[in-house]
This record gives sequence, structure tokens and C-alpha cells, in this order.
Amino acid sequence: MTATGSAYRRGPFREGDRVQLTDPKGRMHTITLTPGKQFHTHRGHITHDEILGSPDGSTFTNTAGVEYLALRPLLSDYVMSMPRGAAVVYPKDAGQIVAMADIFPGATVVEAGVGSGALSMSLLRAVGESGRVISFERRADFAEIAVANARAFFGEDHPAWTVAVGDLVEALPQEVEAGTVDRVVLDMLAPWECLEVVADALAPGGVLICYVATATQLSKVAEELRVSEQFTEPEAWEAIVRGWHLEGLAVRPQHRMHGHTGFLISTRRLAPGTTPPLRKRRPGRGYAEQDGEGGAAGGVQDAASVLRPEHQEWSQEALGERQASPKKIRKLVRGVVPPQER
Ligand SMILES: C[S@@+](CC[C@H](N)C(=O)[O-])C[C@H]1O[C@@H](n2cnc3c(N)ncnc32)[C@H](O)[C@@H]1O
Repeated sequence: MTATGSAYRRGPFREGDRVQLTDPKGRMHTITLTPGKQFHTHRGHITHDEILGSPDGSTFTNTAGVEYLALRPLLSDYVMSMPRGAAVVYPKDAGQIVAMADIFPGATVVEAGVGSGALSMSLLRAVGESGRVISFERRADFAEIAVANARAFFGEDHPAWTVAVGDLVEALPQEVEAGTVDRVVLDMLAPWECLEVVADALAPGGVLICYVATATQLSKVAEELRVSEQFTEPEAWEAIVRGWHLEGLAVRPQHRMHGHTGFLISTRRLAPGTTPPLRKRRPGRGYAEQDGEGGAAGGVQDAASVLRPEHQEWSQEALGERQASPKKIRKLVRGVVPPQER
């Protein structure tokens, strides 16, 4: 059995293939090969019939003498150019999600929301035909766009994919049996609203990854995960990818980059009935003044409770910034201010 869509990724160009044409200035045009059609720019044209039957990676010269390189788009190219109703998960983050959520062949994965289906396609590739991706989207119009995008990429409806229209909170318990889902990936505005249903759906040890756009969402997810007491201590990170310019001796980072896409936060489902082990930590000096029940003076204590935002006041210590000691500051003053001016 060949993997879904693999036939569309190999061999000479065929009718219906999407082809990316790149001109000498690096401008890209995507066409769908149709016998009898022409690819036109303001400077000349190429007939689709010239391209049909040629090997992937061939060049073609248009009627005005401009040369184009023809390649089938990779998944990473496709998601960046496909029609989108909502912002897509960029390939750099999709790669992180597949790797860090440990999406494996045969896995049962729940995803919400579907948006334009960009992440769904990476998940489908990772689980393969023997797995399942059950994707939830509360907007029927977005779900339609996502299904059409995936169909155009795989060449057919992927057998591992189910798209359910509805809010994850109501729809998830209806679609999956409790404790049967291996991995959950949430890309939505308020993932913390879904933690209860996600905890019920996940198998013990299962992974939850949330992709959020802002630090405030990240903080809210982390706090609600701790409050639920059904998950391990979360870990958060962001993936910063910087392209490089490669030209002669000018080998250096590119001037432009995607400075920010989103943050990732991951955690694992504890076995039902297990409470998260207390993280023992000696809180920073700042907690002594804020937390009447001990703080640093009280020594080691439950970090989860000390670190909860509602137990804290805004201070440099609470934000993890170290203050120089009064002694150090006096020494600095002696070093920079002449004695007569002190
Ligand atoms: C940023 S988009 C997802 C993009 C998608 N991951 C992709 O790569 O194309 C967020 C989507 O989540 C949907 N959404 C938000 N909350 C939801 C919920 N509770 N249940 C289902 N869908 C939800 C929104 O309608 C929106 O389409």
C-alpha cells in the first residue's frame, strides 16, 4: 500500500498537479496543470502542455525568453500559499509540535481548531493511514476550507481524518471515548476552557500541546493546568528560526525573519486519581515580603502555590529579575561618585 498522497509527490508532472514556477528574480507563481491552458505574465507565456510529462525540477522558457524553474510544492510551501480563513501554524512550529508532542504512526490525535487545516496536514502525515486525527472546528466555513485544502494536497480525503464541526468542549465527549486519545493539540484563543474535556479524553501519559500567540494566554494556560491537578508541570518554549543569505562571501543571517508566530506549552496527563507531585522550590527573596505564610523565611515550600499570580504582587523579584544587594549598590556608588559629592 502506498501512503496517501505519495503518488502526487513523485514522477513526471501530470494533469491536475500543482506546480510552483520560480522566475529569475525568485518570484513564485503556483499553477494547476491543465491540458490546453497557458501560464501568462505581462511578459510572455508557457503552455501547460510543455510542462506536462516533464520531470519535477525542469526549467521552461516562456515566449519572451524568461526562464522558469518548475517544482512541486512541498507541504511547507503549500501551507504558506493555500487559501486560508484563519492564521495557519507555520511549518517551523508544526515541526516542533509533531516532534515534541511525539505524534507517532498509528496514534489517535485530537486537534482544535482546524482553521485552514495547515497543522492537520502535518498531523495526518505523522500518524499515517493507521492512525486517526479527529479535528474540531466551531466554524463550518473554516472546516470546509480546511477539508478542501487537505484534499487538494493529498489528492483525496485522507483516510485517517475526521473533521467535526462544533465547539471542542461540547463535541469532544461525543466523538471520542474517555481515556482513548494519545495526543491533543490545541490552537485556539482560549485553550484553558477545554482542559476538563481534554483531561477526560486523554489516555494516562498522553501529551497535550497548546499553541498560543501571546504571553498572557501562555500564562493563563499554565496556571489553569496547575489548578486542574490532572497534568504534569507544563513546559513552554518558542521556536525562533532565522534564514541565512548565501551569496559569494556574503554568508550571513537574512535581514528579514518571522520575529514572532506563537508560543508552545506542553504537558502530560497524569493517571486518574494521581495528584501532581509537589514541586519543592526555595522561592526568591521577594516572596518573603509577599507571602505571610513563610516566603523565603519559611524555607522550602510548594512552588505551585507560591508562584500562582493571584498570590503575588508585581515586583522585580516576582518577575524573576535579580536586584543588586544594598551592599553592592553602596559599593557601586563609591566607585562612580566622587567622595565630595556623596
Ligand atoms: C488560528 S485558527 C487554527 C489554525 C490551524 N491550526 C491551522 O494551522 O490552519 C484557530 C481556530 O480555532 C477555532 N476555535 C476556537 N475555539 C474553538 C473551540 N473551542 N472549539 C473548536 N474550534 C475552536 C476558530 O474558529 C479558528 O478557526
